[in-house]
Amino acid sequence: MPALTPPVTADALTLAHRIPPGFVMGTATAAAQIEGMRTSAGRSVWDDFAAQPGHVLDGSDTSVTCDHVHRYADDVALMSELGIDAYRFSFAWPRLQPGGTGALDPSGVDFYDRMLDELAAHGIAAFATLYHWDTPSELGGWLDRDTALRFGDFASLVGERFADRVSHWITLNEPATVTLNGYALGIHAPGEALLFDALPTVHHQLLGHGLAVQALRAASVPGRIGITNSHTPVQPATESAEDAVMAQLFDMVHNRVFAEPVLLGRYPDAPAELEAMFGALGNTDAADLATIHQPLDFYGLNYYMPSRIAAGPGSGDSPDGSAEAMSDLPFHLVDIDEYPRTGFGWPIAPEHLGTALGELRDRYGTALPPVYITENGASFADDVAADGTVHDPERVAFIAQHLNAALDAVSPGGVAEGVDLRGYFVWSLLDNWEWAAGFTQRFGLVHVDFDTLERTPKSSFRWLREVLAARKA
Ligand code: NOJ
Repeated sequence: MPALTPPVTADALTLAHRIPPGFVMGTATAAAQIEGMRTSAGRSVWDDFAAQPGHVLDGSDTSVTCDHVHRYADDVALMSELGIDAYRFSFAWPRLQPGGTGALDPSGVDFYDRMLDELAAHGIAAFATLYHWDTPSELGGWLDRDTALRFGDFASLVGERFADRVSHWITLNEPATVTLNGYALGIHAPGEALLFDALPTVHHQLLGHGLAVQALRAASVPGRIGITNSHTPVQPATESAEDAVMAQLFDMVHNRVFAEPVLLGRYPDAPAELEAMFGALGNTDAADLATIHQPLDFYGLNYYMPSRIAAGPGSGDSPDGSAEAMSDLPFHLVDIDEYPRTGFGWPIAPEHLGTALGELRDRYGTALPPVYITENGASFADDVAADGTVHDPERVAFIAQHLNAALDAVSPGGVAEGVDLRGYFVWSLLDNWEWAAGFTQRFGLVHVDFDTLERTPKSSFRWLREVLAARKA
């Protein structure tokens, strides 16, 4: 291990000493965002979506991104230098199974074989996501129940093939974002703006999750099995009854409809005021719910920010187009202006990571398995300075505050005391392709020059390396 310069700061040491022995510290990425999909035998809905002008802010696409497919060994070397215990990545469905049916493609298998061997050689545990939004173009997408069955088959093939080297399996990543951004608002692939008619995609994704868990169990994978949901604690903008009911609605469609069926085997009951909008979910059949409600070994939580909701349509002005897309809904997001913001304009509210953990405990109690924070991080405008360094003190503060908040929350007397929190993953290892925002938002601990593909560890990387090295054994 190279000398740690500058010496470990008191804050880094205090944080390091708080991290419990065995607590997994890692970084996360996703295939479409880093690999470079021009080398993939199959296409995804994100390739189709990005090909249409106006969908991705800077007109970029997945073809090269970080070129991880060729540079994975260098990237694993960076992870090893950072000193992480685990790396969360996703298997690209179209790379492994072009078209979403049939046998696995040998060149796709070969890539993940080499990448997993490299991780193993460095003693880094593999947390593998089976679905991080790259649905094969040829499938009918999540409005089509058949996609759930296809996903179950994919999980079976991938489970059998890579069982020996994956320590944790994550079926779906943030199905809420797929439903809301991809099918309700149309700002993500596949670009459907169906509003409440997007609700069947909730059920089909969750069915896909249940079938994938069953397939992995049938393949006797030794790894642990879970799902990753994004949770945003929801606050009403005022004390009015209208705002309260719309905040409840947003909490349902963002958080509860994805967690409850998985953990409790049922959809949340819609309050009387919301019955009309929510009817679509009421009539799902018991056999499907039993499939969805599989015993899980862990629950993955992605946390970025809280949400504040007011009744009535919004004014329709936001950098990512979400406010425009939401202007036909009966509620809108209100700016949370008492916090500093990330490059995306997202409020930095670390204590709400504790709120999210507390809500999980209060809502699901003993049905909640051990929890990993599978993503947390922030984008900032990180420029390379004249001396070649990238200084990102905001990211250091962000990670320190959020990790501290999570550890506080689960401590005795904390708002989420009793939650068995097992680990924390920074989003992301590398600056990467941020979906509809293209290359305009940098989330990495490592800066990537998207022209030369050169990697430059930021000061947050060096800081986190100090923290990880200073942990107690
Ligand atoms: C959640 C998603 O899983 C990830 O793909 C995305 O880059 C981050 N949020 C940041 O928006």
